[in-house]
Amino acid sequence: MDKSFGIRILILAAFITGISLFHYMTPLHVAYIHDIFQRLYYLPIILAALWFGLHGGLLCSVIVSLVYAPHILFQWGGHFDMEAEKYLEIILYNTVGGVTGLLSQRERERTVELQQSARVLEESYGKLRAQSERIITIEEQLRRSERLSTMGEFAAVLAHEIRNPLGSIRGTAEILKDDYRPGDPKYEFIEIQIRETERLNRVVEEFLHMVKPQPSDIQPCNVQDELETIVTLVSGDAGKRQIELVLQPSPQPVIIRAEGEKLRQAFLNIVLNALQATPPGGRVMISTSVTGNGFCEIGFRDSGSGISADDLNRIYEPFFTTKQDGTGLGLSITRKIVESHKGTMRIESRQGKGTTVIISLPMQECVNGEVS
Ligand SMILES: Nc1ncnc2c1ncn2[C@@H]1O[C@H](COP(=O)(O)OP(=O)(O)O)[C@@H](O)[C@H]1O
Ligand SMILES: [Mg+2]
Repeated sequence: MDKSFGIRILILAAFITGISLFHYMTPLHVAYIHDIFQRLYYLPIILAALWFGLHGGLLCSVIVSLVYAPHILFQWGGHFDMEAEKYLEIILYNTVGGVTGLLSQRERERTVELQQSARVLEESYGKLRAQSERIITIEEQLRRSERLSTMGEFAAVLAHEIRNPLGSIRGTAEILKDDYRPGDPKYEFIEIQIRETERLNRVVEEFLHMVKPQPSDIQPCNVQDELETIVTLVSGDAGKRQIELVLQPSPQPVIIRAEGEKLRQAFLNIVLNALQATPPGGRVMISTSVTGNGFCEIGFRDSGSGISADDLNRIYEPFFTTKQDGTGLGLSITRKIVESHKGTMRIESRQGKGTTVIISLPMQECVNGEVS
């Protein structure tokens, strides 16, 4: 029961007691004052009806009747023929209490109903707004991917167009190189020319590989096996750079559904970055683990140069590279591959302390220990 309820009851009690006290104490011969007091009783009755509805109004009118009745009986003598008007007043008290109470109760119920429908309306409006916002975002995404796909097509055509002249430039540079001895400045320039055309060619090749629609060939893949293949593939390079390459398998088999070739490409991009960033005597560690929510994690930790906070924001941008002969496409391709396998990728790095790349991928569901 709240505070206002108590205060209202107190006000009503004060009204009834006050009116009754004055009423009983007023001598009988000042009849007009009695008439006033008699009518003043309507105040608490109407208030009770407004505040507490039908029951409140009736209860108050009954209390007023009970308080007022002794006054008729004992002070006015209680003769019906003489005091009919006063008995009528009692009937009116109860009628007014009941009718006002009923009306105010209806009014209150209607207010509650209106508030409820307002709330329902507000909820539906909120849902509608959320829905239309979602539609707008989806439309924007669609428009963006449409634009990207046409841009991708143009870019692929452009890349093809670039590849042929690149071949000619490289070929003629090789021929020109034969005319000069090593140590000749022109020999060095032609070397630069060849190196740069090679780099451009790599960019174009990787780019074409990225935009080329490939038939998807999703199959169960043993992550451990794929990683072993990668380690074998780069162990020569790692040895030359005097970097220790460690593969730390998880105790249980980690099977995912993936396109083997793409997965290997993603792993290779990360391992190559790690090897390129690590100085001789450093270490690159690859580990797999099962995280328990149906996902596995593959971590690639290197003790290399690390990435500055500014660069960390840009490493996924296509063509962003800090290497002289880098293409800047490795990580953007890798992330695309990971996301196409419904996985996520995060990179933690502190400059001078090394870098850790963590790929999280959904595992193939196992039913009763059997791979589904
Ligand atoms: N393991 C790493 N350690 C330090 N820097 C890294 C590492 N991996 C990526 N990076 C940074 O991210 C950039 C982008 O990498 P990537 O997309 O593979 O392109 P690229 O290797 O051709 O430069 C690199 O140039 C390098 O600055
Ligand atoms: Mg790279």
